[in-house]
Amino acid sequence: MALRNVVCEGDEILRKRCREVADIDDRVRTILDDMIETMRDREGVGIAAPQVGILKRMFVIEPEEGELLEFINPVVIEEKGVQTSDEGCLSVPGLVGTMDRPEFLKVEAFNRAGEKIIHEATGFKAIVISHELDHLEGILFVDNAKEIREAAGETEES
Ligand code: CO
Repeated sequence: MALRNVVCEGDEILRKRCREVADIDDRVRTILDDMIETMRDREGVGIAAPQVGILKRMFVIEPEEGELLEFINPVVIEEKGVQTSDEGCLSVPGLVGTMDRPEFLKVEAFNRAGEKIIHEATGFKAIVISHELDHLEGILFVDNAKEIREAAGETEES
């Protein structure tokens, strides 16, 4: 495993729509391992492939310690409700913003073994998944946040 550089706002890589992962192979699994290591090194709760410079539709999240999840080619099946909270992004250092996110998300995605998994998420986990899904479309929280301000250091980043 290896740490990867995290791309920051201003780099056009973060603004592109990511492409489907064609084959879930060892190369993809190595990238996922590196993303996990990089996310943990930066104390993030999630990281998407474009944040490490790879325009593929995949991300990893760790909304709570011990709950590590991988999403490859995710598709939203259902979303309900709205919740509002402050969030930050590893690719937008030093800023937080107040964002509306779905209260409930149902997402279908593949794992590293190539198995299709249905994820149901509420609360903070739904926020993190929604944030990472935006990254795959080239969207950053600063595009839609209501109040963007300097981070005080307590907001989770992903
Ligand atoms: Co982010």
